[in-house]
Amino acid sequence: NHPAMGCPVTGTAADGCPVSHQAAEFDPFGSDYQLDPAEALRWSRDQAPVFYSPKLDYWVISRYDDIKAAFRDNITFSPAIALEKITPVSQEAQDVLRGYDYAMNRTLVNEDEPQHTERRRVLMEHFTPENLEGHKPMVRRLTREALDRIIDQGEADLVDEMLWEIPLTVALHFLGVPEEDMDKLREYSIAHTVNTWGRPSKDEQIKVAHAVGNFWQYAGKVLEKMRATPDGPGWMRYAIRQQASYPEVVTDSYLHSMMMAIIVAAHETTAHASANMFRRLLEQRELWEEVCRKPRLIPNAVEECLRHTGSVVAWRRITTRPVTVGDVQLPEGARLLMVTASGNHDERHFENPDELDLYRDNAVEHLTFGYGSHQCMGKNIARMEMRIFLEEFTRRLPHMELVPDQQFTYLPNTSFRGPDHLRVRWDPVNNPERRSD
Ligand code: HEM
Repeated sequence: NHPAMGCPVTGTAADGCPVSHQAAEFDPFGSDYQLDPAEALRWSRDQAPVFYSPKLDYWVISRYDDIKAAFRDNITFSPAIALEKITPVSQEAQDVLRGYDYAMNRTLVNEDEPQHTERRRVLMEHFTPENLEGHKPMVRRLTREALDRIIDQGEADLVDEMLWEIPLTVALHFLGVPEEDMDKLREYSIAHTVNTWGRPSKDEQIKVAHAVGNFWQYAGKVLEKMRATPDGPGWMRYAIRQQASYPEVVTDSYLHSMMMAIIVAAHETTAHASANMFRRLLEQRELWEEVCRKPRLIPNAVEECLRHTGSVVAWRRITTRPVTVGDVQLPEGARLLMVTASGNHDERHFENPDELDLYRDNAVEHLTFGYGSHQCMGKNIARMEMRIFLEEFTRRLPHMELVPDQQFTYLPNTSFRGPDHLRVRWDPVNNPERRSD
């Protein structure tokens, strides 16, 4: 049901529509949701956990149990729209994309069964614990080098000086992509996020379309180069080798789309999650100091930060049949925005959910990596990176603090969240490695 045709809840005329004032006003591009999506939906968790948003033309789901149940049933709640452009693309922007032969197709994250499980199985093997272990020394080295570069400066923007670069380098290494053109890739990734989850103006859409088109062509070229050395390292070459055995499952179009999607999935998410983590811990100095004193808390601190301020705050599904969620009847084809950040702050599941509790024993049950058969395949890579960041920083810069009174800004979009900049400072005279005691 389209809202113009009457109330999407009851099917009655629009003037009898029970969409509440708050539901009508809900704007995922407004400042409340951008700054704190969980807080912006507190009213919904309490009063209307499933509601129709006329501004977005989506149903919004805000409670933990409802979101988890939808994740669990990927047949009724299809992920097909997970990467759909949330803002319709103008004809001009579509023409620009066509000029680049842009043909982004399904990738694991938005694929239905049975193809999804077939492909996930064929490609999963590369995500073994041993493979993960193999990337650890590199993450440690990159973090130490980044720290060496800033340690005498006394201040830094952690996002600009390391939190983008390291997850991107790790992502490229994991994929086996040469570490060239990193600045270009950062620009491309941001464009991809705006293109998929943002609300770009008409002019911005054209700019973004050029960047996304270039990204698409870049991904194609890298893939071609890799085909010449299929025995080399990385997940993409592994997928190329798997293509020889399973040509129907791993198609050319699939490889090309994956190449582009994974660069974004692997690095932007981890960069934002790490920035959120440093921010939250430093904002509550006593928690930061506790982690410095007790490094054994680090794994749970990472998990709790992912719960409290995750880098993916909402994910999408579409219903394939009429279904009831909470006590709301949804029609077939209902588009859902499941606000995982809100689920993560649901007091029905997490005690004192707004508190950042380093000892929380169910922090790991957060929804930031999704849940069920599509749950994030890279979650342990992200965790590993975030743990190493904390290990190195708490050891070498325990006296680091946030630069006071800074305003945090975010790239306006529904789903990916992390500050554009995170400025910290410290007195290099007090660096532990300088002290002789
Ligand atoms: C899927 C979040 C890092 C690869 C997902 C999904 C979410 C997510 C929400 C969708 C889950 C669902 O539909 O149930 C995150 C966050 C990250 C992160 C918050 C960092 C903190 C990574 C990394 C990689 C990666 C580092 C790869 C190296 C994937 C893949 C999928 C996925 C391949 C698709 C899985 C499928 O549909 O079967 N991620 N991700 N992610 N992620 Fe991540």
